[in-house]
Amino acid sequence: MATTTDFKTWAAAQQQRIETQLQAVLPGADVAPQRLHEAMRYAALGGGKRVRPLLALAAGEVTGADESRAAIAGAAVELIHAYSLVHDDLPCMDDDVLRRGKPTCHVEFDEATALLVGDALQSLAFQLISEFRLANDAAVQLEMVKLLALATGSRGMAGGQAIDLAAVGVDLSLPELEFMHIHKTGALIRAATLLGAHCGNALDAPALAKLDHFAKCVGLAFQVVDDLLDTEATTATLGKTAGKDAKDNKPTYVSVLGVAESRKLAAQLREDALAALEVFGGRAHRLRELADFIVLRKF
Ligand code: IPE
Ligand code: IPE
Ligand code: MG
Ligand code: MG
Ligand code: MG
Repeated sequence: MATTTDFKTWAAAQQQRIETQLQAVLPGADVAPQRLHEAMRYAALGGGKRVRPLLALAAGEVTGADESRAAIAGAAVELIHAYSLVHDDLPCMDDDVLRRGKPTCHVEFDEATALLVGDALQSLAFQLISEFRLANDAAVQLEMVKLLALATGSRGMAGGQAIDLAAVGVDLSLPELEFMHIHKTGALIRAATLLGAHCGNALDAPALAKLDHFAKCVGLAFQVVDDLLDTEATTATLGKTAGKDAKDNKPTYVSVLGVAESRKLAAQLREDALAALEVFGGRAHRLRELADFIVLRKF
């Protein structure tokens, strides 16, 4: 889509593209087992900012990727993300009742179904990234599957979630907090960006390192802002229960650094992220806009 289109219009069109993509790959609610498929669709469709797919599409613009390929890569990461939210909300984790403005999956269905929804969304993500041709070179695509696996598992998102649960009521140092956030949230944001880029022409090593640095900065910034919004925004705007981190005694950037310093850190990460994009010139236009959105968002 033309880079002259304003961000809001571009994002809305791409969000619709992802919605349509997810609609198509999720089994119909009339397909057996109906209740599981209905719950998967409930968890993955019709909500969310779709930041990860937007990053994949924007990174694909940097490498001249076919949009339909970057959309599949982004949809795969979004499925992993949706799974992580369903499990994150379970009573054994954050015990939340509201997500994306609706009752959480285990509240609307039941806990066992929510557990299976997470399992099945994760499998579907790996089906997508291996079934569709996303790179001309099969070896590159195999690397992409591995990248997603690493970002999702114990060395990535799931590992970060384990640290998060173990950290309840604990005073984390700043490096420990950063380690947790980089894993629980940063890993999937980084994967989305890199996977989108891998759908196009190969970047040389220094350029890939720049893109990776960008992704790491916005990945951390995303969770810093999530922590800020938990204290600053309302349940109505967030579509999830505000004030939950303090209530649950979770260490966050706000609890460790305070609001003002956390805002400063998010702004600094945005600067670092934007600086890393300089080598890409105009091709990184949408990535720049996404860095701004991630840090300046109100929901
Ligand atoms: C919420 O993610 C959980 C975190 C990783 C911080 P998002 O803020 O991306 O949630 P949706 O997808 O827009 O609902
Ligand atoms: C969730 O972090 C991270 C993952 C789901 C991997 P949070 O627990 O802070 O996310 P919210 O605030 O419930 O969306
Ligand atoms: Mg959590
Ligand atoms: Mg949570
Ligand atoms: Mg949060």
